[in-house]
Amino acid sequence: MVDLLLGLQWGDEGKGKIVDVLTKNYDIIARFQGGPNAGHTLEFDGIKHVLHTIPSGIFHKNAINVVGNGVVIDPVIFKKELDNLKKFDLDIVAKLLISRKAHLILPTHRLLDAASEASKGKAKIGSTLKGIGPTYMDKTGRNGMRVGDLEFDTWKTKYRNLADKHEAMIGFYNVDIQYDLNELEAEFYEGVEELKKLTFIDSEEYIFAAMADGKKILAEGAQGSLLDIDFGTYPYVTSSNTTAAGACTGLGVAPNKIGRVLGIFKAYTTRVGSGPFPTELFDEDGETMGRVGNEFGATTGRPRRCGWLDLVALKYAVQVNGVTELMMMKGDVLSGFKTLKVCTAYNYKGQEIEHLPYNIEAEYVTPIYKEMKGWDKDLTKLKSEDEFPETLNEYIAFLESALNVPIKIVSVGPDRTQTIHR
Ligand code: GDP
Ligand code: IMO
Ligand code: MG
Repeated sequence: MVDLLLGLQWGDEGKGKIVDVLTKNYDIIARFQGGPNAGHTLEFDGIKHVLHTIPSGIFHKNAINVVGNGVVIDPVIFKKELDNLKKFDLDIVAKLLISRKAHLILPTHRLLDAASEASKGKAKIGSTLKGIGPTYMDKTGRNGMRVGDLEFDTWKTKYRNLADKHEAMIGFYNVDIQYDLNELEAEFYEGVEELKKLTFIDSEEYIFAAMADGKKILAEGAQGSLLDIDFGTYPYVTSSNTTAAGACTGLGVAPNKIGRVLGIFKAYTTRVGSGPFPTELFDEDGETMGRVGNEFGATTGRPRRCGWLDLVALKYAVQVNGVTELMMMKGDVLSGFKTLKVCTAYNYKGQEIEHLPYNIEAEYVTPIYKEMKGWDKDLTKLKSEDEFPETLNEYIAFLESALNVPIKIVSVGPDRTQTIHR
């Protein structure tokens, strides 16, 4: 069976931390979608690590890490990630396997991303500019280059043809994008050589065999459900299926082989990049969440927009993914708020509704809040739920009853040890 770990909001819920915490229970950790737009933070022994493409189980001796077919890989960023890990003596070659069917992000994909965003002006997506959209477009357009192509001598011709086509497309956008393709290509070729030192596999076959052997597998999601290409706040989304079904297509796992679905959410909400966000705060409360929660993008450093927990959106994500257990992150950040608000319904074009409508732009949607008492206690040193303040227990109980799914982990700080199992 394969368990899934998925972000239920707009990303950055704390997936990296929890995958790291759970890896001791698994033989294989596998990424199934997204690419270096992801930034997954892990903290232990006083060191903070940020991973982009490499699965978050990499620091554990017991687990093999697989980059699945649904992922898009930028060899340049991948090389940087590998370089950062060199000092940790992790035996990467034995522990990190790459799907031949994963698509490659070319330097020109990144340029196309920049050109597309520049051409959109105010309507820009707020992309991380890592080339994600253009790479998935080439994948579904059947023009892409895959990791497996690198095992054939023809790959350089394939690369040249695709890069030339991209250059013509950049011209079509008619925006001012400065670049030196020779420099970018030198970096790309260097990255490819580094990537080729790793083992390329038919990852679906690898996973079939592992399942037949009774191995325990955890699929690590990137981004969050509200950034899903189909179910997210389109067009302000990423270009992959971040929801449970993405693990089936991104690893070759059949739906009846999915076990637990672990859904992870922050005790409040954040979003980085553009797009609607009904519970967003523009006041002191939002500023406090950002400051205390240190809400800056792990990939781009951009400040994250902050707001109250949106139960309408969270319920939707729980349904789309079939979440079987929840994990609540960053409860510690809410310490000190006298009153907490949770959005339980929307006023949508004058009517009260409890489902996510087609359009959640501020023009149509106003959140309806339930107010709850906050807690003063510092949670960061707590070791068990017995020490929880009563108002935190009430907050948790309310969410569990509204979502009808148990909250099994409460995270009270960024470190591996600041994790309370219930
Ligand atoms: P991911 O993309 O889902 O892996 O999440 P990110 O790493 O982008 O963002 C989560 C941020 O919150 C990181 O800086 C984590 O170190 C931090 N973090 C995770 N869990 C907690 C928590 O319970 N409390 C606090 N204060 N920080 C946390
Ligand atoms: P993790 O895995 C938060 C956002 C971008 C932008 C939109 C599209 O760390 O949770 P893209 O680069 O995919 O074209 O950007 O999606 N975005 C993320 N936001 N966490 C992420 O990943 C994200 N990956 C993409 O900010 O709004
Ligand atoms: Mg992140």
